Amino acid sequence: MKTARTLRTLILGLALTLTAGAALAAPPMAAALNPAPRDPALAPVFKQFGEKPGLVSLVNDFMDNLMADPVTRPFFANANRDHIKKELVDQFCVILDGPCTYTGLNMQQAHQGLNITEADFNALVVDLQKAMDKHGIPFTAQNQLLAKLAPMHRDVDTK
Ligand code: HEM
Repeated sequence: MKTARTLRTLILGLALTLTAGAALAAPPMAAALNPAPRDPALAPVFKQFGEKPGLVSLVNDFMDNLMADPVTRPFFANANRDHIKKELVDQFCVILDGPCTYTGLNMQQAHQGLNITEADFNALVVDLQKAMDKHGIPFTAQNQLLAKLAPMHRDVDTK
């Protein structure tokens, strides 16, 4: 009986130590946002983007802009750009209620350790806007996609 109690105290003590240690070592991160929140209200906007072929073409130009931009280029120069483009197309497609599935990482996982600042984030948004302008996407449609991406700065900005 005494042994059982001692054992229980030891286990409880160990559990408390481990929990306290983990809390000290890594403060809990805020839960990641849904990286591809589908919005059925955006189905008409999906059409304005030219559906999936339009998104593929848009994301090609978007990545060209990111590589031409001295602020964003260093982040993408050594990355798997074809992979990122595929994930971006699926992500935008799902957000705009297209017939796609996003199987990529959440935005916290995808950008951790990259030391992305608010200025870097804003530069990427401008590069996306330039690509959307080039594709003749109406301003209101552009803003509807951007409104879904803007809150993601919380998970993307790590510096
Ligand atoms: C709303 C803004 C953003 C969105 C929606 C977004 C989306 C994505 C997606 C879907 C991926 C691929 C995830 C996967 O591999 O499964 C990715 C990766 C990546 N993103 Fe972003 N991103 C954003 C902002 C940024 C910014 C501001 C930068 C830097 C200027 C950046 C740099 C990168 C890099 C370098 C990778 C590849 C990381 C690796 O190789 O593991 N992203 N992003």
